[in-house]
Amino acid sequence: MKATPERLSREHAREILGRMDSVISSAQGRGARDAVVKALNGTIPAYSWVGIYLVQGADLVLDAWAGPAATEHTRIPIGKGVCGFAAKAGRTEIVSDVGKDPRYLECFTSTRAEMVVPILNEGRVIGEIDIDSDQLDAFSSLDRELLEAVARKLAPQCRAP
Ligand code: SME
Repeated sequence: MKATPERLSREHAREILGRMDSVISSAQGRGARDAVVKALNGTIPAYSWVGIYLVQGADLVLDAWAGPAATEHTRIPIGKGVCGFAAKAGRTEIVSDVGKDPRYLECFTSTRAEMVVPILNEGRVIGEIDIDSDQLDAFSSLDRELLEAVARKLAPQCRAP
């Protein structure tokens, strides 16, 4: 764990967002979602684990992920955990210290911070991007801006299988 988080720079955020259109258009549906989680996990060092959950009925179901290990939380009821809270509220949640948030459902013992960004379709939450970081306080408003923009670009690919 690092004392000073290595936060995303504006230049890096802009460069990643610029690459997202080609990453997303490299495939359709699940393939595009896979490409996005791999690209985010592979290019931003603080993003230790990146997943996409899709809404199925009253649950969030894990769809695509990239990181060192699988999570046991493959189905999360909407309203439960940080993921379920963000889905219910329909807005981005940033937790700077997961150890201090009673909503947090642990996936990895190394996780220190988490950010969850809803994916919306006509104002309705259809999924979300979930990012775990091994750094305390890893996420800033730049990460929020980047991921909310990625979620908007990805939304059409979350309606297809
Ligand atoms: N920590 C999440 C559960 C999902 S894992 O991070 C992959 C939560 O509190 O909802």
